[in-house]
Amino acid sequence: MNVACNTKETRRIRSMVCEPLTGVVLEIGFGTGLNLPHLPSSVTRLRAVDPLQKGRELAEERLAESPVAVDFVGLDGQSLELEDGSVDAALSTWTLCTIPDARAAVREVGRVLRPGGTFHFAEHGRAPDGKVRRWQDRLNGVQQRVACGCNLNRDIAAIIQEGGMTLTSLDMFYAKGDPKILGWTYRGTAQVTLSGVDQPSRSP
Ligand SMILES: C[S@@+](CC[C@H](N)C(=O)[O-])C[C@H]1O[C@@H](n2cnc3c(N)ncnc32)[C@H](O)[C@@H]1O
Repeated sequence: MNVACNTKETRRIRSMVCEPLTGVVLEIGFGTGLNLPHLPSSVTRLRAVDPLQKGRELAEERLAESPVAVDFVGLDGQSLELEDGSVDAALSTWTLCTIPDARAAVREVGRVLRPGGTFHFAEHGRAPDGKVRRWQDRLNGVQQRVACGCNLNRDIAAIIQEGGMTLTSLDMFYAKGDPKILGWTYRGTAQVTLSGVDQPSRSP
Protein backbone atom coordinates (compact mmCIF):
# COMPACT_ATOMS: atom_id res chain seq x y z
CA MET A 1 0.00 0.00 0.00
CA ASN A 2 2.79 2.40 0.95
CA VAL A 3 4.42 1.85 -2.45
CA ALA A 4 1.53 0.91 -4.76
CA CYS A 5 -0.53 3.91 -3.62
CA ASN A 6 2.39 6.33 -3.99
CA THR A 7 2.87 6.74 -7.73
CA LYS A 8 3.20 9.96 -9.72
CA GLU A 9 -0.46 9.54 -10.79
CA THR A 10 -1.80 8.89 -7.28
CA ARG A 11 0.13 11.93 -6.01
CA ARG A 12 -1.44 14.05 -8.77
CA ILE A 13 -4.91 12.81 -7.78
CA ARG A 14 -4.24 13.26 -4.04
CA SER A 15 -3.23 16.87 -4.51
CA MET A 16 -6.46 17.60 -6.45
CA VAL A 17 -8.62 15.90 -3.80
CA CYS A 18 -6.92 17.56 -0.82
CA GLU A 19 -6.58 21.05 -2.26
CA PRO A 20 -10.05 22.36 -1.21
CA LEU A 21 -9.97 20.92 2.34
CA THR A 22 -10.35 23.35 5.24
CA GLY A 23 -10.78 23.25 9.02
CA VAL A 24 -11.08 20.01 10.97
CA VAL A 25 -10.93 17.09 8.54
CA LEU A 26 -11.84 13.44 9.11
CA GLU A 27 -9.84 10.93 7.06
CA ILE A 28 -11.25 7.41 6.81
CA GLY A 29 -8.53 4.91 5.87
CA PHE A 30 -5.50 6.99 6.90
CA GLY A 31 -3.24 4.15 5.68
CA THR A 32 0.39 5.24 5.69
CA GLY A 33 -0.38 8.97 5.70
CA LEU A 34 0.20 9.49 1.98
CA ASN A 35 -2.25 12.41 1.95
CA LEU A 36 -0.38 14.35 4.64
CA PRO A 37 2.02 16.15 2.26
CA HIS A 38 -0.97 17.28 0.18
CA LEU A 39 -3.00 18.90 2.97
CA PRO A 40 -3.28 22.66 2.46
CA SER A 41 -2.52 25.11 5.28
CA SER A 42 -6.27 25.73 5.64
CA VAL A 43 -6.56 22.33 7.38
CA THR A 44 -6.33 22.88 11.13
CA ARG A 45 -6.52 19.27 12.33
CA LEU A 46 -6.78 15.79 10.85
CA ARG A 47 -8.88 13.17 12.64
CA ALA A 48 -7.63 9.85 11.31
CA VAL A 49 -9.36 6.45 11.35
CA ASP A 50 -7.78 3.17 10.26
CA PRO A 51 -7.59 -0.35 11.72
CA LEU A 52 -4.00 -0.89 10.58
CA GLN A 53 -1.39 -0.10 13.25
CA LYS A 54 1.42 -0.88 10.79
CA GLY A 55 0.21 2.00 8.60
CA ARG A 56 0.86 4.50 11.40
CA GLU A 57 4.35 3.14 11.86
CA LEU A 58 5.09 3.57 8.16
CA ALA A 59 3.64 7.10 8.37
CA GLU A 60 6.06 8.13 11.14
CA GLU A 61 8.25 10.37 8.99
CA ARG A 62 5.31 12.00 7.22
CA LEU A 63 3.62 12.58 10.61
CA ALA A 64 6.78 14.21 11.99
CA GLU A 65 7.03 16.52 8.96
CA SER A 66 3.33 17.41 8.77
CA PRO A 67 2.39 20.90 9.98
CA VAL A 68 -1.15 19.59 10.55
CA ALA A 69 -1.84 17.98 13.94
CA VAL A 70 -3.16 14.43 13.55
CA ASP A 71 -5.37 12.65 16.11
CA PHE A 72 -6.05 8.94 15.71
CA VAL A 73 -9.69 8.71 16.66
CA GLY A 74 -10.66 5.13 15.93
CA LEU A 75 -10.22 1.96 13.98
CA ASP A 76 -13.40 1.59 11.98
CA GLY A 77 -14.97 3.94 9.45
CA GLN A 78 -18.23 1.98 9.76
CA SER A 79 -18.68 3.13 13.35
CA LEU A 80 -16.99 6.44 14.12
CA GLU A 81 -16.23 7.53 17.66
CA LEU A 82 -16.99 11.17 16.85
CA GLU A 83 -19.85 13.50 17.74
CA ASP A 84 -22.50 14.38 15.17
CA GLY A 85 -21.56 17.45 13.10
CA SER A 86 -18.05 17.63 14.56
CA VAL A 87 -15.89 17.92 11.40
CA ASP A 88 -15.79 20.48 8.59
CA ALA A 89 -14.81 18.06 5.82
CA ALA A 90 -14.07 14.40 5.25
CA LEU A 91 -11.53 12.65 3.06
CA SER A 92 -11.28 9.15 1.62
CA THR A 93 -8.75 7.97 -0.94
CA TRP A 94 -8.70 4.36 -2.18
CA THR A 95 -10.54 3.21 0.96
CA LEU A 96 -14.20 2.60 0.05
CA CYS A 97 -12.95 -0.38 -2.00
CA THR A 98 -11.81 -2.08 1.22
CA ILE A 99 -14.21 -1.15 4.04
CA PRO A 100 -16.54 -4.18 4.33
CA ASP A 101 -19.75 -2.11 4.54
CA ALA A 102 -18.78 0.99 2.57
CA ARG A 103 -22.34 2.39 2.66
CA ALA A 104 -22.27 2.33 6.46
CA ALA A 105 -18.99 4.26 6.37
CA VAL A 106 -20.51 6.89 4.07
CA ARG A 107 -23.51 7.20 6.43
CA GLU A 108 -21.09 7.72 9.31
CA VAL A 109 -19.23 10.40 7.33
CA GLY A 110 -22.56 12.14 6.76
CA ARG A 111 -23.40 11.95 10.47
CA VAL A 112 -20.15 13.55 11.65
CA LEU A 113 -19.96 16.25 8.95
CA ARG A 114 -21.21 19.65 10.08
CA PRO A 115 -24.22 20.97 8.12
CA GLY A 116 -22.90 21.98 4.68
CA GLY A 117 -19.64 20.07 5.19
CA THR A 118 -18.20 18.23 2.20
CA PHE A 119 -16.89 14.72 1.60
CA HIS A 120 -13.87 14.63 -0.76
CA PHE A 121 -12.94 11.34 -2.35
CA ALA A 122 -10.84 9.54 -4.95
CA GLU A 123 -11.56 5.83 -5.27
CA HIS A 124 -11.08 3.08 -7.80
CA GLY A 125 -14.05 0.94 -8.76
CA ARG A 126 -16.46 -0.49 -11.29
CA ALA A 127 -15.50 0.53 -14.83
CA PRO A 128 -17.95 1.55 -17.57
CA ASP A 129 -16.56 -0.86 -20.23
CA GLY A 130 -18.19 -4.28 -20.31
CA LYS A 131 -14.94 -6.14 -21.00
CA VAL A 132 -13.08 -4.42 -18.14
CA ARG A 133 -16.05 -5.02 -15.84
CA ARG A 134 -16.12 -8.73 -16.60
CA TRP A 135 -12.43 -8.98 -15.63
CA GLN A 136 -13.11 -6.95 -12.48
CA ASP A 137 -15.82 -9.44 -11.51
CA ARG A 138 -13.67 -12.46 -12.40
CA LEU A 139 -10.61 -11.28 -10.47
CA ASN A 140 -12.41 -9.75 -7.49
CA GLY A 141 -11.96 -12.77 -5.23
CA VAL A 142 -8.23 -12.96 -5.95
CA GLN A 143 -7.84 -9.22 -5.39
CA GLN A 144 -9.65 -9.48 -2.03
CA ARG A 145 -7.26 -12.22 -0.92
CA VAL A 146 -4.01 -10.58 -2.08
CA ALA A 147 -4.90 -6.96 -1.29
CA CYS A 148 -6.37 -7.02 2.23
CA GLY A 149 -10.05 -7.13 1.25
CA CYS A 150 -9.87 -4.64 -1.63
CA ASN A 151 -12.71 -4.96 -4.17
CA LEU A 152 -12.22 -4.16 -7.85
CA ASN A 153 -15.85 -3.86 -8.83
CA ARG A 154 -17.64 -1.50 -6.45
CA ASP A 155 -19.79 1.23 -7.98
CA ILE A 156 -18.45 4.06 -5.82
CA ALA A 157 -20.92 6.69 -7.05
CA ALA A 158 -23.86 4.41 -6.16
CA ILE A 159 -22.35 3.57 -2.75
CA ILE A 160 -21.99 7.25 -1.89
CA GLN A 161 -25.57 8.01 -2.92
CA GLU A 162 -26.96 4.94 -1.14
CA GLY A 163 -25.00 6.06 1.92
CA GLY A 164 -27.19 9.18 2.03
CA MET A 165 -25.05 11.70 0.19
CA THR A 166 -25.56 13.76 -2.96
CA LEU A 167 -22.70 14.01 -5.44
CA THR A 168 -21.80 17.66 -5.92
CA SER A 169 -19.01 16.91 -8.41
CA LEU A 170 -17.78 13.74 -10.04
CA ASP A 171 -14.92 13.19 -12.46
CA MET A 172 -14.33 9.65 -13.75
CA PHE A 173 -11.30 8.46 -15.70
CA TYR A 174 -8.71 5.70 -16.06
CA ALA A 175 -5.70 6.57 -13.90
CA LYS A 176 -2.53 6.71 -15.98
CA GLY A 177 -0.21 3.75 -15.65
CA ASP A 178 -2.64 1.41 -13.87
CA PRO A 179 -4.18 -1.73 -15.39
CA LYS A 180 -7.73 -0.81 -16.39
CA ILE A 181 -9.30 -3.17 -13.85
CA LEU A 182 -7.65 -1.15 -11.06
CA GLY A 183 -7.50 2.24 -12.70
CA TRP A 184 -11.09 3.38 -13.17
CA THR A 185 -11.22 6.34 -10.79
CA TYR A 186 -14.09 8.22 -9.20
CA ARG A 187 -12.92 11.61 -7.92
CA GLY A 188 -15.33 14.11 -6.53
CA THR A 189 -17.23 15.68 -3.69
CA ALA A 190 -20.51 14.93 -1.95
CA GLN A 191 -22.74 16.42 0.72
CA VAL A 192 -25.43 14.97 2.92
CA THR A 193 -28.60 14.55 0.89
CA LEU A 194 -31.33 16.96 1.87
CA SER A 195 -34.73 15.38 1.44
CA GLY A 196 -36.51 16.49 -1.71
CA VAL A 197 -33.28 17.42 -3.55
CA ASP A 198 -32.61 15.55 -6.81
CA GLN A 199 -29.22 14.02 -7.62
CA PRO A 200 -27.33 15.99 -10.32
CA SER A 201 -26.51 14.14 -13.54
CA ARG A 202 -23.09 12.48 -13.56
CA SER A 203 -20.22 13.29 -15.93
CA PRO A 204 -18.93 12.23 -18.38
C1 LIG B 1 -5.71 0.74 -0.25
S1 LIG B 1 -5.50 1.33 1.37
C2 LIG B 1 -5.54 3.10 1.10
C3 LIG B 1 -4.89 3.86 2.21
C4 LIG B 1 -4.93 5.40 2.09
N1 LIG B 1 -6.29 5.90 2.15
C5 LIG B 1 -4.22 5.90 0.87
O1 LIG B 1 -4.80 6.67 0.11
O2 LIG B 1 -3.05 5.58 0.69
C6 LIG B 1 -7.07 1.00 2.17
C7 LIG B 1 -7.11 1.44 3.61
O3 LIG B 1 -8.40 1.21 4.15
C8 LIG B 1 -8.21 0.84 5.50
N2 LIG B 1 -9.43 0.21 6.04
C9 LIG B 1 -9.82 -1.08 5.92
N3 LIG B 1 -10.95 -1.29 6.61
C10 LIG B 1 -11.27 -0.10 7.20
C11 LIG B 1 -12.33 0.32 8.05
N4 LIG B 1 -13.30 -0.51 8.45
N5 LIG B 1 -12.35 1.62 8.45
C12 LIG B 1 -11.38 2.48 8.05
N6 LIG B 1 -10.36 2.13 7.24
C13 LIG B 1 -10.30 0.86 6.82
C14 LIG B 1 -7.01 -0.12 5.41
O4 LIG B 1 -6.42 -0.40 6.66
C15 LIG B 1 -6.10 0.68 4.49
O5 LIG B 1 -5.30 1.58 5.20
